[in-house]
Amino acid sequence: MTTEKFTSISEAMKKGKGKVSVRGWISRERGSNEFKFLVLRDSTNLIQCVLKRENFKKEWPEIDKIQIETSIEVHGEIKPDSRAPTGFEIQVETFKVVGESKDFPINKDLNEELLGDRRHLWLRSRKMTSIMKIRDTVLDTMREHWHGKGFYEYHSPSLLGMQAEGGSTLFKVDYFGKPLYLTQTWQLHAEAGIFALEKIFTIQPSFRAEKSKTSRHLTEYWHAEMEVAWQDFDYIQDDAEELIKHIVSRVLKERKEELEIIGRDWKKLEPVLKKKFPRITYDDALKLLKEKKKVSIPWGKDLRTIEEDKLSELYDTPIMVRHYPKIVKAFYMKEVPKTKPGKEVVFGFDMIAPEGYGELVGGSQREESIEKLKENLKEQGEDPSKYEFYFDTRRYGSVPHGGFGMGVERVISWICGLETIKDAIAFPRTMTRYSP
Ligand code: 4AD
Ligand code: MG
Repeated sequence: MTTEKFTSISEAMKKGKGKVSVRGWISRERGSNEFKFLVLRDSTNLIQCVLKRENFKKEWPEIDKIQIETSIEVHGEIKPDSRAPTGFEIQVETFKVVGESKDFPINKDLNEELLGDRRHLWLRSRKMTSIMKIRDTVLDTMREHWHGKGFYEYHSPSLLGMQAEGGSTLFKVDYFGKPLYLTQTWQLHAEAGIFALEKIFTIQPSFRAEKSKTSRHLTEYWHAEMEVAWQDFDYIQDDAEELIKHIVSRVLKERKEELEIIGRDWKKLEPVLKKKFPRITYDDALKLLKEKKKVSIPWGKDLRTIEEDKLSELYDTPIMVRHYPKIVKAFYMKEVPKTKPGKEVVFGFDMIAPEGYGELVGGSQREESIEKLKENLKEQGEDPSKYEFYFDTRRYGSVPHGGFGMGVERVISWICGLETIKDAIAFPRTMTRYSP
């Protein structure tokens, strides 16, 4: 092989002429008596490579047998060619097969289930590669956003002795002599962290033993959460809105090519950058659903998926629904003062995506009163004694605070216009999918 340095395919295309050395995997191949056309793929792009039989008399039997997903190094002359799939072609002078591939078990006839079983190989597809690049940009933007505002990255344990988001979706772990659970949120331990760092965020997995098989539920998902001291309800919503705008803006700037590869109509994302997200109350939402969608929901019932979808049809940006009834929300949300008895609502909000992608964010102002927290826990059938460490955060210098959690795969699913949230992560975990 040549001693020339390898470049990526996109660097080679930028150079556009002269000798180049590239390496990657064969994504397509076809041959005739005189030529072999190999479309080579690396993480950056595709390029057509041509081998002329008369230059490779000795090697021809080997070349003739090359199958897709063989890994290979090639050296040769690059030039523009309008007939080639990406506009350039390499006339190969030398090559080396690095790893053979026989009968790659992915083809266009496989159904979703089989593609799921062969996920470790399906990741190489242009579709999955593009989504994974968009995912990288989304995660990088989250860190850029919060670090830019002086937040610290902080982490909480994944094994917990108590619930925060309701007992029905807890994963039990039997190891410690008493049951522990996989974390649903970092929140209770984040609330302890703000007394040291004041503004914190995390991006880490959360676990939900979801009983529903939907296109928007994973049992293990990545959860981007923030918590701040000294701030009110509006600040938390503002930050969630800024973060979504920041993410969409960077994806549109840096990942349009990938959005096009996966067939996303990215123009649908543009209103997100131009408009302020409407903020409506739960009561407004019920009224809108009744008047515009002929859907009646009794006061005090949570909005279900279908109702969120109906509501999202009325807007082309995400919206915030806030002041939900206390009985449908978590124990730690602060009650709005002076509501009518039986109509108690909380300083909690959900951000609902357009195009029927559901809840992207859930957040709230936190309750500070230990008495209220205990009362709420008891109403939900919980034992307050498990939460003593949490009450300490209220005992010693309590301050107004709050935060939110954003489902990373929900955001990716919406931005990419995916049919299922499973494609927003390399190896999805759902009720029925836990391998490979
Ligand atoms: O609304 P949730 O349950 O809120 C909390 O966990 C708060 N403790 C967050 C906080 O204030 N720090 O979950 C937050 C978000 C949801 O809005 C949704 O986007 C996502 O997490 N989410 C899921 N994503 C994928 N699969 C699931 N099963 C999800 N459950 C929640
Ligand atoms: Mg929620």
